[in-house]
Amino acid sequence: MLLGVNIDHIATLRNARGGLEPNLIQAALLCEKAGADGITVHLREDRRHTRDNDVIELKNILKTRLNLEMALTDEMQKIALDVKPENICLVPEKRQEVTTEGGLDVASRVEFVKDFVKPLVEAGIIVSLFIDADKEQVEAAAKTGAQFIELHTGRYSEAWGTAQEEKEINHLKEGAALAKKLGLKVNAGHGLTYENVHRMREIPELIELNIGHNIIARAVFDGLEKAVKDMKDLIV
Ligand code: PXP
Repeated sequence: MLLGVNIDHIATLRNARGGLEPNLIQAALLCEKAGADGITVHLREDRRHTRDNDVIELKNILKTRLNLEMALTDEMQKIALDVKPENICLVPEKRQEVTTEGGLDVASRVEFVKDFVKPLVEAGIIVSLFIDADKEQVEAAAKTGAQFIELHTGRYSEAWGTAQEEKEINHLKEGAALAKKLGLKVNAGHGLTYENVHRMREIPELIELNIGHNIIARAVFDGLEKAVKDMKDLIV
């Protein structure tokens, strides 16, 4: 399985002080060096983490693939057609949400999604729809011209270790099998952690996982001890 690393939270940290550190491009290159198969960023309407310039710089410098997560708006479509990332993942977006809540509702607006996807695919971009594994959403996604879906693993992640876990993993398995049958390629992501990710291997259709928060959270602890020691060395 491939790993796309979402580096939005590096940008969040950078933006907290308004400067350039931690450097997003450096972080992306380090992820690639460590084996990431692609770098994912979500360009939000409010630009709360990644900004337009980041997307352009990443597209120019990455050796793997840039996966741009974005909402279905005219503004984002224009940026995508200008920058031409290798991958786009279309996500629902609400201004007040902390992170992407729930999947895209494709079933209620297949024609709209189809029209939105068309110029992107014609520009050579591989388009994915971030959806829940519900049958009606998977069937609708297969009618839009998008080549991929990304299954929302949030419910599985929340259910992990509880009585609901089996139900949620089975839901993902069924959604992935149906998607493949309908000619879609399948990725997955959201809320995956070092503890719960192993069950994704039970879903043979999965091509790539997109993981962000838990990797960045672990990176803080893997680096904190050395960071404190290095500072201490400079002042004793
Ligand atoms: N996939 C999509 C479509 C997302 O919106 C996100 C969160 O930005 C992720 C994957 C990664 O989720 P997490 O940060 O919880 O690993």
